[in-house]
Amino acid sequence: MAYGAERIDSEPVRSWLTDWDWLDDGWGENAIDIWNDVREQCPVATTERYGRAFMPVTMEAVRQIANDTENFSSIWVNVSRPDAPRTPAPPITSDPPDHHGHRRLILPAFNPKTVAGTEEDLRHFCRKLIAEIGDSPTADAAVQYSQHIPVHGICILTGLPEEDADLFRDWIYKNFQLAPKDNNVRIQVMTEMGAYISEILKDRLANPKDDLLTVIANAEIDGKEVDWNIKVGYVRLQIVAGIDTTWSAIGSGLWHFAQHNDQVQRLLAVPNDHELWQTANEEVLRYYAPVTMARKVVKDVEVSGCPMHAGDQTLVTFPAANHDPAEFENPGEFILDRQNNRHVAFGLGIHRCAGSNLARLEMIVAFQEWLRAFPSYSLDPSKKTTWANGQVRGPRVLPVLTGR
Ligand code: HEM
Repeated sequence: MAYGAERIDSEPVRSWLTDWDWLDDGWGENAIDIWNDVREQCPVATTERYGRAFMPVTMEAVRQIANDTENFSSIWVNVSRPDAPRTPAPPITSDPPDHHGHRRLILPAFNPKTVAGTEEDLRHFCRKLIAEIGDSPTADAAVQYSQHIPVHGICILTGLPEEDADLFRDWIYKNFQLAPKDNNVRIQVMTEMGAYISEILKDRLANPKDDLLTVIANAEIDGKEVDWNIKVGYVRLQIVAGIDTTWSAIGSGLWHFAQHNDQVQRLLAVPNDHELWQTANEEVLRYYAPVTMARKVVKDVEVSGCPMHAGDQTLVTFPAANHDPAEFENPGEFILDRQNNRHVAFGLGIHRCAGSNLARLEMIVAFQEWLRAFPSYSLDPSKKTTWANGQVRGPRVLPVLTGR
């Protein structure tokens, strides 16, 4: 199934400087140009569409917000209607001092050794998807490939059932692209996910397995049992943070390489363990960083000369910071072997991505298998790529000519 067709009506953006909207149709495909235009005029854009909400576009402003947990709370990590009901999904929605205990609980499941152990499985899975495309001259690199790989990875590491992949993707789509403007959709997704996760956790209490779901079902912090609602939130986060993020990164990379066969040929000329694959992976993350987070402003504060007030919302626009010329030489150029690439695609500060090892592995394996299978693939000029707007940005329909 392809995601992204349904749209909530809203007026087109009048000015990206004073009326930005991450659910505007223009955002998905054009976000990098939008951020660059705004940055030339001002480090922080505003909107009144979700109450007052800000969009910083420089590394300096993004760094200040991400590192300041006193003035900016993670209790709201998505810019939505201010009356939107919010559910906890820790550690991402928690602030100090609680954040540390939540993070410590889930982090071991994503340690480098455990993640590295999934490589063969992931490779095999990618090959299976490619075999299903077979000798077809056309394919959809999002629908037939990128959307499946992160679900497989997250299910291996957490114990979630992969046969429910369509359900997870449907919740993700509604949660990120419809719910910010529609509280009914938000409540529907919250209720359905809550009931589904509760069932699974209850099952793990009765039938423990060697997986993260069992750890979560029995979770304690400092010897005290964790509230059920929070346990459900841990699993909710695995689903919403671990799937469309990497799906978008893989899709964006494949969209890029489809248009830069010279770079594909450079990669194919070196073995999989060559450094060029690593630098290319990091450059995809920098250039096409899919995840924009948000914070609730909890005290009056100034960011790059822009006053923000308690109760306002602000994006933490990590992808825009990755294109700041004050931080990166030639940020608009995709440089396959870029050195010292200190991008913030995975965030920074205490909430830095807990799944970055897994995301990096899924991406590199997905690129290696696809490019070696389809060394001369290209975008299909007769069809259109469609992009997800909002918090997680990436191709959802990606028609290609396979070269076969
Ligand atoms: C390319 C893929 C990914 C990108 C770009 C990405 C990006 C991010 C970013 C920017 C944050 C910071 C949040 C903030 O500051 O509020 C974050 C946090 C997080 N990510 Fe990822 N992520 C990716 C994949 C994953 C995967 C596969 C998982 C696995 C479940 C995951 C789990 C998490 C968790 C649990 C947090 C919260 C950490 C905390 O609050 O301490 N992410 N991610």
